[in-house]
Amino acid sequence: MTDLLNDLLIRNARPYGDEAVDLLVQDGVVTGIGTGLTAPEGTEVFDAGGHVLLPGLVDLHVHLREPGGEESETIETGSHAAALGGFTAVFAMPNTDPVADTAVVVEHVRRRGEEVGLVDVHPVGAVTTGLKGEKLAELGTMAASAAQVRMFSDDGRCVNDPLIMRRALEYASALDVVIAQHAEDHRLTDGAQAHEGAIASRLGLAGWPATAEETVVARDCALAREAGAALHVCHVSSLHSIAVLRAAKAQGVRVSAEVTPHHLLLTDGRLTGYDPVNKVNPPLRTGADTQAMREALAEGVIDVVATDHAPHASQYKDTEWAAAKPGMLGLQTALSVVIHTMVEPGLLDWHGVARVMSERPAEIGNLPDQGRPIAVGEPATFALVDPDAQWTVRGPALASRAANTPYEGMRLPGAVVATVLRGRITARDGKVVA
Ligand code: DOR
Ligand code: ZN
Repeated sequence: MTDLLNDLLIRNARPYGDEAVDLLVQDGVVTGIGTGLTAPEGTEVFDAGGHVLLPGLVDLHVHLREPGGEESETIETGSHAAALGGFTAVFAMPNTDPVADTAVVVEHVRRRGEEVGLVDVHPVGAVTTGLKGEKLAELGTMAASAAQVRMFSDDGRCVNDPLIMRRALEYASALDVVIAQHAEDHRLTDGAQAHEGAIASRLGLAGWPATAEETVVARDCALAREAGAALHVCHVSSLHSIAVLRAAKAQGVRVSAEVTPHHLLLTDGRLTGYDPVNKVNPPLRTGADTQAMREALAEGVIDVVATDHAPHASQYKDTEWAAAKPGMLGLQTALSVVIHTMVEPGLLDWHGVARVMSERPAEIGNLPDQGRPIAVGEPATFALVDPDAQWTVRGPALASRAANTPYEGMRLPGAVVATVLRGRITARDGKVVA
């Protein structure tokens, strides 16, 4: 990636919330950590104000909508949102137009990300041609392309056909890449509009049963075991899926899982006003599910938080419920929601936040220079967080082109003060540093 390699002295930062130190950064790498450090003349000095320093956040699941959906987001606006949210790497899902199912499209996404230069944009390749679920896309060609695709997914759709999924996992094993599954048996969710339960019944919305997720997770864990392949389960939403994941992990299946911030915090209780901002796939579920998600994330059965950042322009959201597209913004609110749901109740400390939002995602996504320890010799790739700040979410003030945040008007804890990518400050005090 093309970076200007600045030298930087970061004063008074608390790595993982521990003791305050200074960090000297040269050519994008940490070359000194200590107290009272001095820097060569001309080095930029950055006062970190005693805030918490984390490795730069890594998001395994975003929708940047480019190519083809630029009315909702672009790689540029999505990169702005990512940098402001503390992210230094994101994985862009392939449900674009054209679909990212060829080397040409994934290379375009990667190149555009590099041109914007705020965050490493890693294209996710489609598993099947056109996301149709019928024929495997050319995974090997995309993996070998300049985009170096390391994750494949039909996200938005499930790879429902077990034979196609089996073949995909066999290829994934041979290519050393990961298949990220959107676990939803479409036969069970035909026409679904909301979590199948008391609230959907009362509102007259067709139900999305939790079993549609759980059964696909169980099937795919068996297929991944047989293929010896790495399977990643996108946006786990049902507490029943957790037992399946726990059992598979205990058997040594190479399975990882993510939960979204909205499935940690929001429930189907929000649906009573029929506001489509709450429509998302998989749907918001019950308080028992959100509680189970939090506990599974703390325990490590769910490995990571991924946003499923899904911008939709107002013409796709300001409609009646049934016509609205599913999805919600996530990049600029993710860390605050994790602080609120996980740090404040004592389920995770800052090391834990670094684990679920940076270290494990970088491992799963196979990124050798992200999610690294804050230590001498390591890349200077950080998120600096003021844990005591509070802010009120306003959709139009977010950097995304769309404004479909479910947290509108909510007061959330924690603010990203700065983001640093290989020694370059990409965001500072709520503004992108171009
Ligand atoms: O809510 C969702 N929105 N879930 C998905 O799986 C796809 C995504 C989108 O692309 O908008
Ligand atoms: Zn999905």
